Amino acid sequence: MKVTVVGTGYVGLVAAACFAEGGNHVICVDKDRVKIDGLKEGVIPIYESGLAEIVKHNQQAGRLQFTTELAEGVAHCLVVFLAVGTPSSADGSADISAVLGVAGRIAELMDGYRIIVTKSTVPVGTGHKVSELMKSKTEHPFDYVSNPEFLKEGSAVDDFIKPDRVIIGTTNPAVMEIMKQLYAPFMRKRSRLIFMDPVSAELTKYAANSMLATRISFMNEMSALCEKVGADIELVRTGIGSDSRIGSAFLFPGVGYGGSCFPKDVRALIHTGESYSCPMTIVEAVQSANFHQQDRFAQQIVDCFGGRLGQTTVAVWGLAFKARTDDTRESPAIRCIEKFLDAGIKVRAYDPEAMGGAKEHFGERIKTSQESYDILDGADALVVFTDWQEFRTPDFEQIARRLKRPVIFDGRNLYDPVYVKKLGIEYHSIGRSQCAMPAAVNSAVNSAT
Ligand SMILES: NC(=O)c1ccc[n+]([C@@H]2O[C@H](COP(=O)([O-])OP(=O)(O)OC[C@H]3O[C@@H](n4cnc5c(N)ncnc54)[C@H](O)[C@@H]3O)[C@@H](O)[C@H]2O)c1
Repeated sequence: MKVTVVGTGYVGLVAAACFAEGGNHVICVDKDRVKIDGLKEGVIPIYESGLAEIVKHNQQAGRLQFTTELAEGVAHCLVVFLAVGTPSSADGSADISAVLGVAGRIAELMDGYRIIVTKSTVPVGTGHKVSELMKSKTEHPFDYVSNPEFLKEGSAVDDFIKPDRVIIGTTNPAVMEIMKQLYAPFMRKRSRLIFMDPVSAELTKYAANSMLATRISFMNEMSALCEKVGADIELVRTGIGSDSRIGSAFLFPGVGYGGSCFPKDVRALIHTGESYSCPMTIVEAVQSANFHQQDRFAQQIVDCFGGRLGQTTVAVWGLAFKARTDDTRESPAIRCIEKFLDAGIKVRAYDPEAMGGAKEHFGERIKTSQESYDILDGADALVVFTDWQEFRTPDFEQIARRLKRPVIFDGRNLYDPVYVKKLGIEYHSIGRSQCAMPAAVNSAVNSAT
């Protein structure tokens, strides 16, 4: 099938490459000339495991092309996906101007029937707005589909190729059939397509992200209570996650959620609720608990160096909002580092992939290094923000030796408190009491029974 994808970011580039991998002929359109020129030369603008390989392979096979010319994309395709950004507006609503701008332009360029599919996360009613706008600009027939994307940064290609589900928001059986064909290569064991009306599809995306954010904020609030009462959040997590009605996914406490989706989608759902006079009180609480968790973690570190903040330097491991991505958008690390800098604490930072975004944000205000252990030399503490694999079993002896005083603040609960303390390191983590059981105990007991 001939497909065009407009917007060549995390979602658009992955979707385009995967559709090409499925045998379709795909043109990617982006307004960013530097990005498109780079892609033509094989430069992948984002870090995403497995993406470079499928982009290259399909480019070489002639199934994947890049252009800045929307007209070229519209002339080429039957189905056009919109995967442009929908950032937060000042009032918290999703800014859909890029979606509407591109849809309007597609309508002007169309020379016959097209299927317009929104992959961007857009609020309820956007489909209606897109359709009305397009009708005002073209005589040609078209269909509109809401097809929100659920891939996760860090495993985007895998998620796209092996999706939990694909939501197709259309009520037209002929369009359903075309969408079925497009997704068929990713449904080989069984169909995971779920058909619904466009409005329900739009809301499903916000409900999914807000539900996941709710689990995180719930656990983070529990972690604060654990610290007060002397309980261990990791044991509580294991205890509740084993209940099949609850499940174990997305129960990890930490320094708060971030990234380009959860914060903005939670904000947008709150705004949608307000505009329909239907307050989203749970989601509002989720958002404030998330800020509170980030601020609580940063404040603990500021308080620790109370009287001598001007003479304090912290070494930071991890700037990305989570592991396996270079994305620092609304990363808790960024918010917390701002608080350190405000307090007069100097910051040195290392991240295996996300240094670019952090440099753009902080400029010369923090020092960065390409080497994780170098930044420890003479620093007052190590602060871990991201759960990168390479931080999980570090050389503690080197950490202790290179820091001025061996102190770790762990925003991801990566280490066993008993083990780390035995090494003489002062260890602060999230929601784990001082008398925490060694992590190995439960697995040892379970394997013995
Ligand atoms: N990143 C994720 O994990 C993820 C997951 C699911 C859904 N989403 C949603 O998908 C959408 C895209 O997210 P993303 O992370 O890929 O964004 P992104 O910022 O990485 O990419 C968006 C791309 O669109 C391009 N663009 C913007 N306006 C354009 C225009 N008028 N014409 C052509 N190109 C244009 C930009 O240059 C950019 O390359 C958002 O609505 C987001 O909420 C993102």
